[in-house]
Amino acid sequence: MLRYFAAAALAAILSSPFVLADTPTCGPGNLCPQDAPCCSQYGQCGVGAYCLGGCDPLFSHQFDSCVPAPVCQSADYQLKSLDDVKSIDTYLGNASNINWVSQGQLVTYNDALLLTMAQDTVGTLLSSTHYVWYGKISAKLTTSQGQGVVTAFIMMSDVKDEIDFEFIGVDIEHAQSNYYSQGVTNYHNGLNLTVSNTVQNVHEYTIDWQPDTLTWSIDGTVLRTLKRSDTWNATSNRFDYPQTPSRIMLSLWPAGLSSNDIGTVEWAGGLINWNSPYMQNGYYYAMVQEVSVECYDPPSGANKTGSKSYVYNNEAGTNNTVAITDDSEILASFYATGEKPNYNPNAAASGSKSSSAPAATQSLETVPGMSGGGNRGGDNAPSSAAASEATGTATGSAASVASASSTGVAGFNQGGGGNAGSGASALRKEGRLGMGGSGLAVCVAVLGLLVL
Ligand SMILES: *[C@@H]1O[C@H](CO)[C@@H](O)[C@H](O)[C@H]1NC(C)=O
Ligand SMILES: *[C@@H]1O[C@H](CO)[C@@H](O)[C@H](O)[C@H]1NC(C)=O
Ligand SMILES: *[C@@H]1O[C@H](CO)[C@@H](O)[C@H](O)[C@H]1NC(C)=O
Ligand SMILES: *[C@@H]1O[C@H](CO)[C@@H](O)[C@H](O)[C@H]1NC(C)=O
Ligand SMILES: *[C@@H]1O[C@H](CO)[C@@H](O)[C@H](O)[C@H]1NC(C)=O
Repeated sequence: MLRYFAAAALAAILSSPFVLADTPTCGPGNLCPQDAPCCSQYGQCGVGAYCLGGCDPLFSHQFDSCVPAPVCQSADYQLKSLDDVKSIDTYLGNASNINWVSQGQLVTYNDALLLTMAQDTVGTLLSSTHYVWYGKISAKLTTSQGQGVVTAFIMMSDVKDEIDFEFIGVDIEHAQSNYYSQGVTNYHNGLNLTVSNTVQNVHEYTIDWQPDTLTWSIDGTVLRTLKRSDTWNATSNRFDYPQTPSRIMLSLWPAGLSSNDIGTVEWAGGLINWNSPYMQNGYYYAMVQEVSVECYDPPSGANKTGSKSYVYNNEAGTNNTVAITDDSEILASFYATGEKPNYNPNAAASGSKSSSAPAATQSLETVPGMSGGGNRGGDNAPSSAAASEATGTATGSAASVASASSTGVAGFNQGGGGNAGSGASALRKEGRLGMGGSGLAVCVAVLGLLVL
């Protein structure tokens, strides 16, 4: 059975509709240019949110193009509401007041969050703003069902070390455990773990990640152990062991799209059926109740000059090239970067009025996985110039997003006849403010063309 690097497949889906002809790409041997210095996790260069979570320091213009990564914070997150979640196009990096960022449509339901995937969308991704550099991370969740539909609970570092629990919608009696080192595809790291009905039963999935050992557990039982010492790779001269600060990610995504690689589609059990009995209210869904994080002390040999953030200082991207510092930056606008965190062209233009604001004429990418001009809402809103500037893209199809999401949340009914999610209207509002005229609209429109 072919196994494809799930994150890469996800990246391809999330980014493919948004690759403007002139958007620079980044990867090994191909760093981002100075004016779009940040390499997103999807391999595209930009500014603003491109420089936050997922920004790959190894392929960015400089190490400090990426914003320093907020350190681990032990916490127990009861995901009952959207209060602690921001859409990534309204988040500028202040992790002290927001613990989660999202792409897609979250719905509150029965004191939990639903990750939803309506027809022709790319699903939903929920990522922590804080990183973990070793710790015990647990999630209580149920998965989605149906061919081509993948639910995931993973740890992912900015240099693409990865620790996975993945759930294929055609096999609800297994969780697939996996790991990757610096994004290198490896077909031998996966292992199926047996579990009872992942759709009907809330299970607790735990990743216990220590410098020398890594375990995957379900409901408190260790089902797999990986030792760093067993991962030595003589070719790359390092341990192929996840070893760099990682964000927690929960996602529901469409592996079974005809636009995807055939191997990815086969791995996921085939093409998605958008008229499936497993959909409710027009979408597939997975439910996350709670995520808990117990941070471990940083490794004894760590280069520690502070306590606020993780930064990389060498292109090896290994454990010993991560430093713990007091560097802490919050971007002033969606045009700022790690090198110029205070840059805000719209603020600068406010004295002389905005038509000449430099950013308004640029086609810089500001939000990975979404197109265009950045923020239009939320408490970090840079200025009204940004708001007017941002309405350029795809205003027309925003309406279809609105209707898709409102259909999705009205009277959600899972089994025993529940109520509409209480956050439905909040989400709709936030969705409209946050997404209006931007990425999700493009995403729906373009993917619609691809799929049909
Ligand atoms: C970040 O958020 C905290 C908590 O809301 C706030 O006190 C602080 O002023 C914010 N920092 C910046 C630079 O906006
Ligand atoms: C896991 O199970 C699936 C079937 O559900 C199978 O296709 C796959 O090859 C298995 N993976 C491993 C690593 O055994
Ligand atoms: C070792 O690393 C090289 C270079 O990254 C990679 O191509 C190869 O697949 C790795 N070997 C194994 C067994 O994972
Ligand atoms: C990094 O990993 C090596 C083994 O590859 C270990 O000897 C070293 O102590 C680790 N350093 C840190 C800072 O974690
Ligand atoms: C420790 O980290 C700091 C900050 O990144 C860096 O300037 C310094 O060179 C590092 N020292 C070592 C020995 O790697």
